[in-house]
Amino acid sequence: MYRQDAEATVQVDTLWRHARLATMAETRHGLGIVERGMIAAQDGRIVYCGDEAGCPTLQAREVVDCEGRWITPGLIDCHTHLVFGGDRVDEFRMKLAGARYADLARVGGIRATMAATRCATPERLAADALLRLDALIAEGVTTVEAKSGYGLDEATELRQLATARALSQHRRINVSPTYLGLHAVPPEFADDADAYVDLVAASLIPRIAAEDLAQSVDAFCEGIAFTPAQVDRVFTAARRHGLPVRLHADQLSDTGGAALAARHAALSADHLEHASEAGVAALAASGSVAVLLPGAFLRLRETRRPPVDALRRHGVRIAVATDLNPGSSPLASPLLAMSLAASLFGLTVEECLLGMTRQAAYALGRGARTGSLEAGKDCDLAIWSVEQPAELVYWLGLNRLHRRVCGGR
Ligand code: NIG
Ligand code: FE
Repeated sequence: MYRQDAEATVQVDTLWRHARLATMAETRHGLGIVERGMIAAQDGRIVYCGDEAGCPTLQAREVVDCEGRWITPGLIDCHTHLVFGGDRVDEFRMKLAGARYADLARVGGIRATMAATRCATPERLAADALLRLDALIAEGVTTVEAKSGYGLDEATELRQLATARALSQHRRINVSPTYLGLHAVPPEFADDADAYVDLVAASLIPRIAAEDLAQSVDAFCEGIAFTPAQVDRVFTAARRHGLPVRLHADQLSDTGGAALAARHAALSADHLEHASEAGVAALAASGSVAVLLPGAFLRLRETRRPPVDALRRHGVRIAVATDLNPGSSPLASPLLAMSLAASLFGLTVEECLLGMTRQAAYALGRGARTGSLEAGKDCDLAIWSVEQPAELVYWLGLNRLHRRVCGGR
């Protein structure tokens, strides 16, 4: 990894000095704090991260004096529906007037956004997604997951996935596109959801896998969406084609979603407000990450909190994400997501920060590449003008990001 120029001096691209580090390294305790820390990067990777004192002699092309600021890994938003057409402001007004999400879902909801997404031009779809992505980037996000699921026909689903992937041509960002074919039953199949499920399993999944259009497959398992049996068929097809799965599980009711996700060795099970103890135990056994989404909980005025104590007891990794979408969670702030996770779900500061970094990386199957500050990982950093990392969770709407580094730059 090092390039030896002179006998004892190692040449690197960039050195960040005089920093305090919250490394989030699993090998360290808690946030993995290093008080007098330094990071060196070469070719986009971290080659040294640790104490200034214990550092080998390095010669850098660029030296950045962090003046005592805190460095965390770049934030990872592991559950978003970033790419969609239009908005659902009208439904928001109706919700404020007392309408329920499940009722709105029947008359509009996901299908209202589907209609807007289908008729959006590719340029408009990309421009709107970029606008929202910029809000995430402004708060230190270096990796973002982006789901399809608002096309529900082949052409539009593929356009959503392509739009998500292309975002990294416009910004320095790692994008992980997810195919969410089973988000809602499209109107063309209103009388025969099973025929749509068959189409997804037999036609869309093989194509998406063959053309490498998505890195995982998601589904919405719920009374107002798809049954466990339908999800099972699509997940079986996905895994047969080498695509890992994740699930919108037990959000509004307990459908056994957590256990279903676990049976398919899901990367993550998301929402989980109604997950049972047995479901949580299954997630622990499968090593799936529990992704908690306080934005949707808040906006849907849910009262039942996800089983945080059970997740802790069973040792399930807990991640936190925005669920950025036009309906249940128009939340474009990872900092606010962490703050809400603390206040609404009772997560600790450490759980929130790990949930937006290391655990979120695992939820995307990228734990070996990013999510913590360790030699060998991608040099994805967020540099903060704060006195202590807890401020990232403490403030409601104050962004103290000083600078973001993605892939060493
Ligand atoms: O994660 N639960 C299903 N999907 C989204 C909501 C999508 C929408 O309302 O448009 C969610 O909350
Ligand atoms: Fe979602």
